[in-house]
Amino acid sequence: MAEAHVLVFPCPAQGHINSMLPFAAALLDTGVFVTFLHTDHNLRRASSVAGSPRLRFLSVPDGLPDDHPRSLGDMMELERSLREVGAVRYRALLASLSSAGRPSQDDSDGVDDDQSFPPVTCVVVDGLLTWAIDAAEELGVPALAFRTSSACSFLAYQTIPELVELGELPFPACGDLDEPVRGVPGMESFLRRRDLPSLCRRSGGTGGVDLDPILHVFAEATAHSREVRALVFNTTASLEGPALAHIAPRMRNVFAVGPLHAMSSSAPAPASSLWSEDDGCIAWLDCQPDRSVVYVSLGSLAVIKHDQFAEFLSGLVAAGYPFLWVLRADTVAASKGQHTTPQESIGAVGEDKARVVAWAPQRDVLRHRAVGCFLTHAGWNSTLEAAVEGVPMVCWPFFGDQLINSRNVGAVWRTGLDMKDVCDRAVVERMVREAMESDEVRSSAQKLARVVRRDVSEGGSSAREFQRLVRFIKELSM
Ligand code: UDX
Repeated sequence: MAEAHVLVFPCPAQGHINSMLPFAAALLDTGVFVTFLHTDHNLRRASSVAGSPRLRFLSVPDGLPDDHPRSLGDMMELERSLREVGAVRYRALLASLSSAGRPSQDDSDGVDDDQSFPPVTCVVVDGLLTWAIDAAEELGVPALAFRTSSACSFLAYQTIPELVELGELPFPACGDLDEPVRGVPGMESFLRRRDLPSLCRRSGGTGGVDLDPILHVFAEATAHSREVRALVFNTTASLEGPALAHIAPRMRNVFAVGPLHAMSSSAPAPASSLWSEDDGCIAWLDCQPDRSVVYVSLGSLAVIKHDQFAEFLSGLVAAGYPFLWVLRADTVAASKGQHTTPQESIGAVGEDKARVVAWAPQRDVLRHRAVGCFLTHAGWNSTLEAAVEGVPMVCWPFFGDQLINSRNVGAVWRTGLDMKDVCDRAVVERMVREAMESDEVRSSAQKLARVVRRDVSEGGSSAREFQRLVRFIKELSM
């Protein structure tokens, strides 16, 4: 039998890398070789350290100039450019890796050209990069799709054509957003219009069924998944059992193997941050009492208006708890007439009460004894990380799957509160207080954490699913 060597290729965004790198790390533990494929731009930023002789990082260009912001507003451009420019290099690289195991001269670009790697036997590609899945299969390399978002959101995206047919989509943005959504199996008891991606909302008054182009990318990728030989989710049956049960019969093979970052690994976790982490905030947390701090982070992509920042800040100050706030340089959109920066406004609250960082070691922060709740955009990684640590959440979802994730937090798991569609200082204050003080919310969060940790430990549902996936991958390598 050939040695198994998996090429893992995430979308070039932090939330996708943070989901697929722990997957790569978990594969290493089973003796598999892994090549992790970044874009050139991200490989330079991530300063990725392999930490294992069976893991290496290679890259392909994304076709954009180095100083391009690659922010949320440019996602379609990045997607198109990667598909057009990166795809050519990806195909050439995969052709050489699957025949010889190492990049050809042209592809190496100075990155580690380790001769000891066997040929690539399988690829696990971000499900949004459908062209990379197809190219692998065309080259005769078996390809699996990996979804970094929740199974519930996948199911909702999968149902979009049926929702359009039923007349449920798109709905007017100014209509009653609390209307229940019919047609998404397993979610009819809790899903409302406001929980679907905001791209489903029609801003104009026309009755057409035009959907946002980004939603099309998601819907197409989701439809494409029906054809792939296997679909891997970073989730677990305890969190999303009903959604997984509805997805599985429509797919060839489904594996629920998460939360992957919590799966024990013998090797040190490979680095994955595109920003440099400010460890100083851990020393600041060390000086705070147990469960006294509100951790605030809206992930790697969300951008808020200055007014929204001001509402969050006022609400947090009024709630009275110290807070640690992650503000990337581009988190708050520039606004005319503002003489103080958001960082200065937080600084004015005082070092004992407020700390701002550009990027935090989030998993360490969430497991810190001083953190009492997490004000979050409910990105899927952040949601999983809070679930594993049993930290109550206050959710202010920004886009995409986050709206469904936050509904699960507030109405299904009851491990936090869903602030969706409101950005008001009084609501921020009330919800932060409740998340910090409610025994009910805390006890649900801790109970869920115990269940989820059991899922990823030996014999748990995700651990068994992962072993099944590894057998599947090894059989493909024969
Ligand atoms: C996005 C989507 O929101 C998410 O739902 C999708 O599945 C993947 O892409 P993002 O918006 O960045 O990702 O949010 P999230 O999924 O929460 O990922 C952010 C990651 O960055 C988390 O793993 C978090 O731990 C990490 N992070 C965030 C840090 O390490 N430090 C920080 O300061 C902030």
